[in-house]
Amino acid sequence: MSLELTVRRISPRVPLQDDPDDFVGYEVLIDFMKQRVLCTLEGDIVEIGAYMGRGTARLANFAHTYGKKVYAIDVFDPGLDKTLSKSGIKAADVYEAFLQGRSMLAAYRASTRGLDNVVTIREDSRKISFPEEQRFVFGFIDGCHQQAYVESDFHVIWPHLVSGGALGLHDYKYGDWPEVTKAADKLIHAHRREIREAYELEGKYGILSLLLVKK
Ligand SMILES: C[S@@+](CC[C@H](N)C(=O)[O-])C[C@H]1O[C@@H](n2cnc3c(N)ncnc32)[C@H](O)[C@@H]1O
Repeated sequence: MSLELTVRRISPRVPLQDDPDDFVGYEVLIDFMKQRVLCTLEGDIVEIGAYMGRGTARLANFAHTYGKKVYAIDVFDPGLDKTLSKSGIKAADVYEAFLQGRSMLAAYRASTRGLDNVVTIREDSRKISFPEEQRFVFGFIDGCHQQAYVESDFHVIWPHLVSGGALGLHDYKYGDWPEVTKAADKLIHAHRREIREAYELEGKYGILSLLLVKK
């Protein structure tokens, strides 16, 4: 039996919404969850890197139908992330630019207003741990794009992911953050025995998220 995993490419099957404040194209993630009927499994959804909360709100609306919560983790301080992109731009400057003077937290609160199944955790993701009994059916990582952070974020979620659940990493390919690719490839290799299937899912701007389905 080969120990190498095949990563299969999936093109978007649903139209992407024209929302300039959603940087992922969350509909493709939700479509993936629908296709795999992930919400029939027991557990919640978790997102690291919520930014203006556009995706958080979409995930929460979807999760609500199934009585699930969405845990959203972010520092909500656009100036903290000093990661340099491959074109030499600081992540903090990218976040500030798209905020166009808005407060990140205020934008997030406006996006998620009235959604009582959102649990907001305002904290550095490296300091987060969930109680042992917490279960997730889906997790999405789009926080700090440094290798150490991506690896740490993976370990925050993976032990709590149920069998058949999926974990996504944004910017796996064709993004501006090569350390995400490095971290993801290392994680795929290290955890290959625990991974049932792996996909590259195309979202907004042609950027690929990696999706790992747990055995
Ligand atoms: C690329 S943005 C997320 C975009 C979001 N997924 C979307 O499409 O709307 C990355 C986010 O990660 C957050 N972040 C960066 N470093 C973090 C850390 N150490 N802990 C928690 N959040 C962090 C930033 O504040 C920012 O909101």
